Amino acid sequence: MSSETGQSTSRKIANVMQETRVFPPSQEFTTQAVIASESQYQHLYKSAKSDRDGFWSDLAKSELHWFKPFESVFNREGHVVSWFGGGQTNLAYNCLDRHIENGLGERTAIIWEGEPGEQRRLTYAELHREVCKFANGLKSLGVRTGDVVSIYMPMTPELAIAMLACVRIGAIHSVIFAGFSAEAIADRNNDARAKIQLTSDGLWRRGKNLPLKATVDEALKKSPTVEHCVVLRRVGNEVPMQAGRDVWWHDLVEQASADCPATPLDSEATSFILYTSGSTGKPKGIRHTTAGYNLWVKQTFAWVFDYKPDDLFWCTADCGWITGHSYIVYGPLSNAATVLMYEGAPNFPAEDRFWDIIERHRVTILYTAPTAIRAFIKWGDHHVEKHDLSSLRLLGTVGEGINPEAWMWYHRKIGGERCPIVDTWWQTETGGIMMSPLPGITPTKPGSCTRPLPGIVPLIVDEELHAVDVDQGGMLCIAEPWPGMLRGIWGDDERFVEQYWTKVPGNYLTGDNARQDADGYYWIMGRIDDVINVSGHRLSTIEIESALVSHPSVAEAAAVGRPDDLKGQAISVFVTVKSADPPTELKDELKAHVRKEIGALAVPDDIRFTNALPKTRSGKIMRRLLRDIAAGKEEIAQDTSTLEDYSILAKLRGDEE
Ligand code: WT7
Repeated sequence: MSSETGQSTSRKIANVMQETRVFPPSQEFTTQAVIASESQYQHLYKSAKSDRDGFWSDLAKSELHWFKPFESVFNREGHVVSWFGGGQTNLAYNCLDRHIENGLGERTAIIWEGEPGEQRRLTYAELHREVCKFANGLKSLGVRTGDVVSIYMPMTPELAIAMLACVRIGAIHSVIFAGFSAEAIADRNNDARAKIQLTSDGLWRRGKNLPLKATVDEALKKSPTVEHCVVLRRVGNEVPMQAGRDVWWHDLVEQASADCPATPLDSEATSFILYTSGSTGKPKGIRHTTAGYNLWVKQTFAWVFDYKPDDLFWCTADCGWITGHSYIVYGPLSNAATVLMYEGAPNFPAEDRFWDIIERHRVTILYTAPTAIRAFIKWGDHHVEKHDLSSLRLLGTVGEGINPEAWMWYHRKIGGERCPIVDTWWQTETGGIMMSPLPGITPTKPGSCTRPLPGIVPLIVDEELHAVDVDQGGMLCIAEPWPGMLRGIWGDDERFVEQYWTKVPGNYLTGDNARQDADGYYWIMGRIDDVINVSGHRLSTIEIESALVSHPSVAEAAAVGRPDDLKGQAISVFVTVKSADPPTELKDELKAHVRKEIGALAVPDDIRFTNALPKTRSGKIMRRLLRDIAAGKEEIAQDTSTLEDYSILAKLRGDEE
């Protein structure tokens, strides 16, 4: 049993967050919701748990098209799992052909807005046609089922078309976010043994025209497996085309036939790999499949986003991340939804671009990231107040924990206190959303991802692998398989087993810490590696950061531990403030504020003000880099290939007290 002192407390993570606000959905929202009663959720949750195979079998039959019906629902041999074995389906067929057969060909699939302002609208029939033509184009370049296609493209409809064309013919796509370096592309191409590269002449970002093809040319010098490069004309840059290797997108599709039947693919056929940066540096290619992934993203989209045919859904992620794969392309399109896709930056031509887009297009559901929300707060409310956001009815967040004060701002300023917020917890590895409020029924608490979706069985354990008590933090695992789970790390089975299945045998290890409160709600406490251990008390980063962000002067905060002879670790925080010049007294004020919000235990030992925090390109704060800076390490030994802005590092090092 745990005592009050030393050893045993050090194995649990102290819960110091006191968030008591609760926001139930309005009656109006509940009445029209897809899941409209607590008993409906309880029924789904219990059926999925007590009869997993029956539950998923019924959904797979009703929600997906089968060229060949599956023979078994779930199988596991060692670490190899299979869902819907013996069956054949196709992701692109489920996203396109099925709807056209159901008479929805004229429904809008994608409304696209380019950064410079141009607009395009593609119906399901038009999208189908473009996908078929491009798929035939890929075939003409020798692409066959099982080949890997590397995609490095701007957020244009062609990016979605390329992804769908690949899965239509069973080629495996590997989308690489168009901000990565030539080195990063080459690493990924070589690891995946990519056969074809797709790119564009350039992309628009904050009014500037960035030369994608030049970066790709560099990368291809070191990517010997790549035979051809298809180039989309987007910005009109002049680009050198290498004879025999490079071909323009428009030339490739010009002659191509629009007749390209979807290839029936085994349920377990790899649909795509997506590289994610492991905490050790070397990117890992997370491998997803066809049927299980498709069912998971289709169903989670329907449950969590409460989608109705007259909604306009906008996920602001890039297709280079799993969020874009699952909730711009495959989830919404499987549901015959209409998505908005935006190419550019949130602050071009001005900081109100998102609100302008929402007003003009009448967006009804907005799904974005805490890092963006904190930027909006910093940019100021006047950008929001200029616009009519009354079309919005539901908001979502993903990617990091959301600090309760940022949640409150989102709720008030963007949601007009009327829109439920779904704080969705999941990972590249999980394929789709795992824990989230169901907007029609779940009373939300700022900062909590609330409860698991049907089929998800979370388990929180301490270092000795015992389940922790209510309100105690520990390692978050998933105890039961689900259809969207990753099937491997591309080319590295050993790492797959080691990373996810070894530490807590029989369970999927998420790498996050979490606690469950007395109402059964889950609170993600940050990455396991980020825990700060002060005098034997294990503190989670999000709680200290949230206390700081609740101070009116603070825009963003990152907390890390640094070695301390006395306490084991001392707390070092990096803070971005809303005003240009933070007064020196602010440091003492912030310490007092944390003392009041959490207690003496969590008072930062040092506070540094900075203009920006180092982040991954997907917007996550890179605490491991900050740890090195806080520890006073001169050379940053860690991998920085995913760091958004190198200059921030230099500034932070020079900015020490
Ligand atoms: C990690 C996964 C999920 C798609 C985008 C990121 C953190 C994600 C939340 C949330 C607290 C969150 C976790 C997770 N995370 N969503 N709602 N609350 N933390 O995918 O790059 O694979 O990152 O992001 O730490 O493990 P990813």
